[in-house]
Amino acid sequence: MTLTRREMLKLGLAGSAAIALPVRRMVRADDGPGRISESRLPEPFTVPFAALQVLAPSRVDATTDYYSITQRPATAQIIPGFDTPVWGYNGLVPGPTIEAQQGRRVVVRMANALPATHPTLGYLPSTSTHLHGAPSRPQYDGYANDLTLPGQWKDYVYNDVPNGRTIWYHDHAVHHTAPNVYMGLAGMYLVRDPLEQGLAIPQGRYDVPLMIQDALFASDGSLLFDDDDESGLMGDVILVNGRPWPVMRVERRKYRFRILIASLSRSYRLALDTGDPLTVIATDGGLMAAPQPVTRLPASTAERYEVIIDFAKYPIGRRVVLRNLSNKNNVDYPDTDKVMAFDVVDEPSSTEGNSIPSVLDPNNPVMALDPALAVARRSMKLDRGGGQWTISDVIWDDIVASRFRKVFANPQLNDVEIWTLQNSSGGWFHPLHLHLVDFKILDRNGKPPRAHERGPKDTVYLGENETIRVIARFGPHRGRYLVHCHNVVHEDHDMMTQYEVGTGGDDPITSAPAVWGTPPAP
Ligand code: C2O
Ligand code: CU
Ligand code: CU
Repeated sequence: MTLTRREMLKLGLAGSAAIALPVRRMVRADDGPGRISESRLPEPFTVPFAALQVLAPSRVDATTDYYSITQRPATAQIIPGFDTPVWGYNGLVPGPTIEAQQGRRVVVRMANALPATHPTLGYLPSTSTHLHGAPSRPQYDGYANDLTLPGQWKDYVYNDVPNGRTIWYHDHAVHHTAPNVYMGLAGMYLVRDPLEQGLAIPQGRYDVPLMIQDALFASDGSLLFDDDDESGLMGDVILVNGRPWPVMRVERRKYRFRILIASLSRSYRLALDTGDPLTVIATDGGLMAAPQPVTRLPASTAERYEVIIDFAKYPIGRRVVLRNLSNKNNVDYPDTDKVMAFDVVDEPSSTEGNSIPSVLDPNNPVMALDPALAVARRSMKLDRGGGQWTISDVIWDDIVASRFRKVFANPQLNDVEIWTLQNSSGGWFHPLHLHLVDFKILDRNGKPPRAHERGPKDTVYLGENETIRVIARFGPHRGRYLVHCHNVVHEDHDMMTQYEVGTGGDDPITSAPAVWGTPPAP
């Protein structure tokens, strides 16, 4: 007799380790090689930093930029001397960066050319692509069950990011998001707007995206997926833009770094070894009202922070290290306290955009949301029960079983609501993410939000035994949207639910289904 874990839950067989065991066995059953010995890993700060590749549009017309992306297997050189099998958007890991201009429509023709099974986990890699940080219509939002199978393709239409921001696209397939993203299905997407482009902040080559991840490697150089009984994957190697602990050569001036935490589970507390501040200028949803210098920057999966670091105060020859002081409930290894290094090598070749204006974006409508506008208040409890990660006692399989009718909340279009997010699962932090909307953090454990999180957000770090209140205006689309923990191992098992804005919105699964065949040029 084989029971699904859902059936075991119903029979009350949950609650013991028995539930977690099959997955552990699945991970290990593959007789694959064990972990790579530490001596084969590179010394931190020996591998040169690399900027992310930018994707050129396949075609541009008066209103729209068209892109073609194929998800396919490839080989990456990550650990020097080893080949690592990966799945990349156009074979690249991290995926190529899309640079968009606010107000222009973007269409991404996304094809799934992955093999029929994952190399060690054996599942069929259907995919669903989410543009995290964009208010997309339901059928283009990467709904977990809106699947594109190997051999299928689908157009994603993105037309309405309201302002400049650092966002990212990544896989969101039901129950397989963690291994799909781990294999490489994540990339950055920058939206620029005139306000941000008009500020004297670092631009061009001084505006540098940093995608931070962690990974475990097997002795043959392949990625080792060990999610520790569905708790999370904590790698011993820190990657920045796909390189282990890289070192970047910088000039004596200000740089803007667009930091994206794209780890499956690990959270970070970033700090400079000089004790100097990182000046946060933008959060998930774009520019803050005013810059916030912080000496420690806690950040969990999917959060984005744009920070300015001023290297002008260091002499040529100085090395500045971006460290990770970690947080409670991570698993740390000897070198996970380091992220990357900056070697100050030159005087500035340009001093344009070399300042931090005291006013950035004072008019973001999300930051103007007042609790008095709220027409509903709801609370959401994140917990672990019956061997599953739950949101107010619901798991995604409950939503599936309801034929996607069950919803956590049903705000009407443009309603303002306050949601209280509560982490009751001692021993874990949960980066909680709402699709569709940006929110403002009202308070954290009854106190004002921390300096670095006083900007528009879509993902919030919900630490052990914490309670956070957020406020959002629910729009601009009607329809069903995901809410989940962005520790993607939790998300897969099964800490995800949905809410519906209004009624009669487009169906996320049936409105724009994937089609079979080789996609024509867009
Ligand atoms: Cu970045 Cu629903 O995810
Ligand atoms: Cu999202
Ligand atoms: Cu979680």
